[in-house]
Amino acid sequence: MTNWWQNAVGYQIYPRSFYDSNGDGIGDIKGIIAKIPYLKELGVDFIWLNPMYKSPNVDNGYDISDYKDIAAEYGDMAQFKELLEACHKENLKIILDLVVNHTSDQHPWFVEAKKGKENPYRNYYHWQNATPANLPNNWQSFFGGSTWTVDEPSGQAYFHVFAPEQPDLNWKNEAVRTEIYQMIRWWLELGIDGFRLDAISHIQKEPWNFKIKDNPWAPFMNVAGIDNYMKDLQQIFNEYNVMTVGEASGVSSKKAVNWTDSEGYLDMIFELEHNVRKGVAGSERIDLLGFKKVIARWQKDLGKKGWNALYLENHDNPRFNTILGNETKKSAKALAMMYLLLRGTPFIYQGQELGATNYPFQTISEVDAKDTLSFYHRLLAENKSEAEALQLATSWSRDHARTPMQWDDSKNAGFTTGTPWLKVNPNYVKINVAAEKEDPDSVLNFYRQLIQIRRQEETFATGTFELLAQNDPDIFAYLRKGEKQFLIITNISQKTRKLTLPKKIWQKNWQSYITNDKTAPKKLTKEMTFAPYDALLFVEQSNS
Ligand code: NOJ
Repeated sequence: MTNWWQNAVGYQIYPRSFYDSNGDGIGDIKGIIAKIPYLKELGVDFIWLNPMYKSPNVDNGYDISDYKDIAAEYGDMAQFKELLEACHKENLKIILDLVVNHTSDQHPWFVEAKKGKENPYRNYYHWQNATPANLPNNWQSFFGGSTWTVDEPSGQAYFHVFAPEQPDLNWKNEAVRTEIYQMIRWWLELGIDGFRLDAISHIQKEPWNFKIKDNPWAPFMNVAGIDNYMKDLQQIFNEYNVMTVGEASGVSSKKAVNWTDSEGYLDMIFELEHNVRKGVAGSERIDLLGFKKVIARWQKDLGKKGWNALYLENHDNPRFNTILGNETKKSAKALAMMYLLLRGTPFIYQGQELGATNYPFQTISEVDAKDTLSFYHRLLAENKSEAEALQLATSWSRDHARTPMQWDDSKNAGFTTGTPWLKVNPNYVKINVAAEKEDPDSVLNFYRQLIQIRRQEETFATGTFELLAQNDPDIFAYLRKGEKQFLIITNISQKTRKLTLPKKIWQKNWQSYITNDKTAPKKLTKEMTFAPYDALLFVEQSNS
């Protein structure tokens, strides 16, 4: 292993909801500094911070109005430097979100660009002649509606793949690239350890006359010509020898090899395919078989050349312990074992290590996420009742993951002394850091154990991956082979399951390493029976 991040575990912090040090109801930089000991105890090696740059917060910080400053609600640059220093002192690395597909419509470049066709900043964005009745094309944005917003005074429209308040930058314009590259260097010069690149596969677009066929987002997903920009970025990242992880939808598992091998643009990318849903709208769950096939394909296709970023949850998705688990401690632990021992760099999303579950929304006023709100209003316009619209719009809302971190059982889960910007999940009285620290059997302590095992056993970083029980709809089982051999079996279902193991497995001499429950099998036999959400890790004994 030559790169530090291949043997590392990351932790994603959603700063707004992590820890509020000044009682304004919003998490902040000082709050993160205060919790460094917690992160060290958990055993993670680096943190990824969602955006804290200046922003009107239409998309919670993903609409940036000043790339080189910190939004006042989080603190200021001096505090950011303090955080960086404090983390580095504890050997904790920091990667930041890099949002360069778009800016805020309040960014000075766009404010200028909007002034008229002759403005020197006009070409920083994509503009085309248009009227409301005659848009340049019928492309659809990720947040619903057209990708074009008309600016009547100029008789033109500007392009955005997300909200209208997030105009896309024109990467074809060299001046834009120069500004962006300078900004990247400016952050790297400060000594940060890398970036998570937001929406990076969208920076290149098809010609405007491209016709959408089956995939509405194809015209801006990893479009030919992106490579030149990625190579520029790669060169900068290489100069500073930092870690990079891309959010790169549309980059298939096959293509991801070129993006992430030793010559690749980035160190790793997040696949965005694993949320395979099943069930009726409003109460959908993850289909384990579909999920498993996606993960196994990425493991196989990236093989020994590419590198995976492993994750279950993030700030854009509901909690896995609800949508794949059954909201118990046991299922949270099974999910942890299922993915933390795969090949790649694991990321843990804040609260996941506690077994956090979805929020029980009672009214739409508890929702903040713009996409959930617009979905809700669309449903009402389609004559759904308020109760139905609430259920449909919130079941998969990103706000489930954005509720405040649950530190203890005091008011507002110890997150803030003020009024939290988003309601705290009422289950905080049970699911919280303080309680779980004390309980040797907690989800938190299980995560700590798994992280330690991953670090102690080099095979988890270097070894190969082989999927077992491929078509089983409930069991996710695999082998990791390197200097040692490990067997992971998880029953990701509420059923008691029997499994016949293949001879190549049962004829070997296995020793139980850990399980997620006292009652889970400790001995490996040909015919096995697993209780709901049993999870087992075995190591092969070399004396066989
Ligand atoms: C992906 C981010 O994860 C999401 O939160 C955001 O809304 C979009 N990119 C737009 O930046």
